[in-house]
Amino acid sequence: MQADIVFLMTCAIRENAENKVWHKLRELERAKRSGAVKKFGLLGCMAERLKTKVLEEVPTIDVIGGPDSYRHLPKLLAVNSLTGQNAVNVLLSLDETYDDVLTDVHPHSSTITSRTSAYVSITRGCNNLCSYCIVPHTRGRERSRSIETILKEVRHYVDAGVREIILLGQNVNSYRDFGGDQVEGKEQQQVKLAAGFRTLYKLKSGGIGFDVLLDEVARAHPDVRIRFTSPHPKDFTDEVIEVIARHPNIAKGLHMPAQSGSDAVLERMRRGYTKAAYLSLVERIRAAIPGCAINSDFICGFCGETDADHQETLDLVERVGYLVAYIFAYSMRERTHAHYHLVDDVPQEVKIARLTELNQLYRLSSLRMNQATVGTRQLLLIEGVSKKSPDQLYGRNEANQKVVLTRRATEDGSGDDLIDVGDFVDARIVGCTSVTLLGEPVAKSSITAFYA
Ligand code: 5AD
Ligand code: SF4
Repeated sequence: MQADIVFLMTCAIRENAENKVWHKLRELERAKRSGAVKKFGLLGCMAERLKTKVLEEVPTIDVIGGPDSYRHLPKLLAVNSLTGQNAVNVLLSLDETYDDVLTDVHPHSSTITSRTSAYVSITRGCNNLCSYCIVPHTRGRERSRSIETILKEVRHYVDAGVREIILLGQNVNSYRDFGGDQVEGKEQQQVKLAAGFRTLYKLKSGGIGFDVLLDEVARAHPDVRIRFTSPHPKDFTDEVIEVIARHPNIAKGLHMPAQSGSDAVLERMRRGYTKAAYLSLVERIRAAIPGCAINSDFICGFCGETDADHQETLDLVERVGYLVAYIFAYSMRERTHAHYHLVDDVPQEVKIARLTELNQLYRLSSLRMNQATVGTRQLLLIEGVSKKSPDQLYGRNEANQKVVLTRRATEDGSGDDLIDVGDFVDARIVGCTSVTLLGEPVAKSSITAFYA
């Protein structure tokens, strides 16, 4: 490693994420001592959470910057250069959304996941205070960007050739633009939640919600695929569901983190819903959006989780039939409600055994869903060339299933020119494994043409 400056951008959500960063910090400490790296700094949630400990353990660090301090980085670096001391800013903000920061579209940009997709951050922070979660403590209060600046950023990427926009936030569908009076013709809405869901915090009124934003983005770019992550189930109101159902360019693959299927555990997690409320929401979504794929996050071995609780989670997984489930062993985080009031009493091996069982179970529904696509036509956005063979491309369908297809002229002859990264392709699915679909190109296409 040889660099003038290295910044580590960090996550604090689970202990193992942090362990990796400690390891990297030691490496950078050595690199600075040997002269290979001149300066190094720690940014993001771990910086927010552990500033004092980092200063104690890694005293040669130059800069520590929390998630709301990125505008101050030049100043922090200048102070560090002038004084030779650590420069630290971990103040959280009530209104920082970086809404005027536009990222250049180039393949190495952190905002652009590939040449085809771009993340657009629309909210920051989280007010939910789920009892296990550090995010509200490291990211601060929830705040949203204005619709105008979001539309401007989306246009910036679309003009540069991006074909998929992923709206991003810690609690993305709780988006609310409170300064939104200026959007002509838009009525102020009352803040609503999905039926059967509640919050610990008091709901505000007024402002413009996620349904309106989603509708505006989808209408502005009918040939750009739109996804969003990470949502909370409470904010899938009937209005949001209706907008997703109505627009062919909003992907019909939704993330709906359930965390547990046990009412007692959900209560201790302070999630604000029961298993029945969650299942009823899934039913409403499936009725309004036929074939919609649903994904989820689960935590295994949360404080006091019994075998019976775990069975409830297995039952939920079975009933919903997820395409993808991200399953984590509970990792106690300091400063959270659970840290102060509950006991991390499930042994690690039990956590892992439950995690393995859940993984095996969801993979069955995942495989069933993959098999069900064989013989169908799917609209793929081509994301890249396979590392294994230059003749193979890969892309994703609406549900976000990965599809590998041979790089050759289309069946209908629409592509004498070969298919390339960034194209939408109408493909026939001819086979699958448990994680990938296999496709053959039928025609080059677009969202509007495919669904016409
Ligand atoms: N331990 C384990 N998993 C956690 N998550 C959040 N906090 C913790 C924790 N303390 C998981 C949740 C969340 C995902 C992003 O990370 O499932 O949805
Ligand atoms: Fe954490 Fe998500 Fe709960 Fe917010 S909604 S506290 S980010 S798990």
